[in-house]
Amino acid sequence: MAETDLFADEKTQDLAEAEQLRQEIRHHEYLYYVLDAPEITDSEYDRLLVRLREIEAAYPDNVPADSPTQRVGGRASSQFAEVRHLEPLLSLSNAFSEGELRAFDERVKNGLPIGSRVEYVMEPKIDGLACSLIYENGRLVRAATRGDGVVGENVTANVRTIRSIPLVLQAPPGEQLPELLDVRGEVYMPRHAFMQLNEQRSERGESEFANPRNAAAGSLRQLDPQVTASRSLSFFAYYIVGEGARARHSDSLAALTAYGFKVSENYRVVPDIDGALAYIRDFDQRRAGLAYDTDGAVIKVNEVRQQQLLGATGKDPRWAIAFKYPPEQAETTLEDIDWRVGRTGVLTPTAVLTPVKLSGSVVSRATLHNEDFIKARDIRLGDRVIINKAGEIIPEVLRVAAEKRTGAEKPVEIPAVCPECGWRVERQGAEAAIRCTNPHCPALGREGLIHFVSRDAMNIDGCGPSVINQLIDAGLVRDAADLYSLRREDLLKLERMGEKSADNLLQALAASKENELDRLLFALGIRHVGAKVARILAAQFGSADKLLEAQPEQLAQIRDIGAKIAESVVTWFSVPTNRDLLERLAAAGLKMTFTAPETQEDNPFFGKTLVFTGTMPTLGRAEAKTMAQDVGAKVSGSVSKKTDYVVAGEEAGSKLDKARQLGVTVIDEAEFLRMLQGGAQ
Ligand code: IVH
Repeated sequence: MAETDLFADEKTQDLAEAEQLRQEIRHHEYLYYVLDAPEITDSEYDRLLVRLREIEAAYPDNVPADSPTQRVGGRASSQFAEVRHLEPLLSLSNAFSEGELRAFDERVKNGLPIGSRVEYVMEPKIDGLACSLIYENGRLVRAATRGDGVVGENVTANVRTIRSIPLVLQAPPGEQLPELLDVRGEVYMPRHAFMQLNEQRSERGESEFANPRNAAAGSLRQLDPQVTASRSLSFFAYYIVGEGARARHSDSLAALTAYGFKVSENYRVVPDIDGALAYIRDFDQRRAGLAYDTDGAVIKVNEVRQQQLLGATGKDPRWAIAFKYPPEQAETTLEDIDWRVGRTGVLTPTAVLTPVKLSGSVVSRATLHNEDFIKARDIRLGDRVIINKAGEIIPEVLRVAAEKRTGAEKPVEIPAVCPECGWRVERQGAEAAIRCTNPHCPALGREGLIHFVSRDAMNIDGCGPSVINQLIDAGLVRDAADLYSLRREDLLKLERMGEKSADNLLQALAASKENELDRLLFALGIRHVGAKVARILAAQFGSADKLLEAQPEQLAQIRDIGAKIAESVVTWFSVPTNRDLLERLAAAGLKMTFTAPETQEDNPFFGKTLVFTGTMPTLGRAEAKTMAQDVGAKVSGSVSKKTDYVVAGEEAGSKLDKARQLGVTVIDEAEFLRMLQGGAQ
């Protein structure tokens, strides 16, 4: 046999083996990520993947795009393209009571021929973000977020990294795969992944996500698919649109399961509205134990023909509605109050509680805000208290269960001295806050450093609160300037600090020296100098030296700088230890000047007025503002006819309503970022 034939034969064999491996790997991914029932160990799975990679490396031209090795294939993109949905992504109207659900049932029946029987499908309402997945001949070709329901963002590269989403569909027994399938569902972040991510972010000094839903949105809208891949997102399919839909919604859910999607195991078909109500009561008991957040239940008419007869009003179908559960509450005992000193010397009370289960996690602390909050609710030690968690991660003490008092409860003692240093504390004027009067209180140093390195300040990655605490405890750092003399060997002595983390931290510190003066001014933690004031001061004076010499009257003349700020700035600069700190920072090589970025006249935001509202998935408020100002936009706090754009995040409230009333263009963070990069709207 000729040599070439021999090799050709080997190639054919290798390619066949690769295809065999792909099928095997897909099967095991399905068992693991969709059914949660793996049949092989992680290392056995890894071995299959390693072998497949080996063969694919030898024949790079024969690697199909949907090979399991190609999930993180796409390149980091600079923006998400807009895509028009094949059919609009509908939203759902909400019901909050039994009465509203019965009214929904009435409306459904009134919209159908007299005497129609209506069966419902009940599903958990998953708290994530809606996504449309398009499969052509069984292959995932496009994934898009909801956007405004008509036009969404193309997030295909990111969605491909979600392992519970099949890149290739399984054909249900005896069936062919449809030419086109539009699958709708929810991308979400499981609770454990959310907790882990926030822990990591806090370690690195990054801001934490408020809830799993924000975390999912932020992770899906990453420009680099590598980042999305690292975020443990998952997907529940809950709807087939158009052609691919079966006669009954429950059959569609069964088909989705057969195609290889994860479908919530908690869906049920119920014969009528009473069945729906029973499901809602039962599901309320179970949902705290689920691995993911749910904020309600969805009730859908099962017969697709009936759905079609009912149609939609605007953005909501008439054949489905979401039932929203009230925010979760729990009762427990207030054992103690822990007063902690923050960066500005303010003492904040935290309730120490007998651990109790709430929204799927065990809660043992809750915020009490300040002295007035405690007094207004007449909170006493030993009280039974009701705590709640309304979407936020930090629970709050809502009220006292006064009827359960035994008489043994003790009034809360407001500290007279600082728990950290023992100095006297005071309450100034109408302020609700109690402050430590010691200008050298150790808490100020610690909290000040945590603020100094934070994202909107010097943005030093890898330097979270636990690293700061260790650095202080080890005597390596007393103030911000000390950070810049840290050596690699010092860092390596810290707990959980490997070589890579140490190098990254040193690199982040070095990079932070290049920050413009406005970040440094904000980072110094001067009272009343937030990110905005810091920027005005930096822009006005151009250098720390000039600012140092400024007189209070000179400062107070600047727009947006009042007498209070002026005095605070001048006082800060007059303290010798502060001047000394600045000198040492300058000696360490930090940039002490400010160069206004060139405005970009051709940027769509140039000369426009923007208002930010709500919580954005990835950007901090100060960060977003600075970015807008850098391209010549004005940022305002309130919406008026003069507003050009409202950038709305999660839980945007009255400003968003006002924008809608006035017809102001509303965009989300992704659109904001896209336009910022010069993209047309
Ligand atoms: S059905 C016409 N089913 O809730 C079909 N939506 O508040 C409309 N959601 O936009 C969606 N779980 O993002 C449906 N089981 C479920 C859901 C669900 C969560 C989300 C979805 C939707 C939003 C409406």
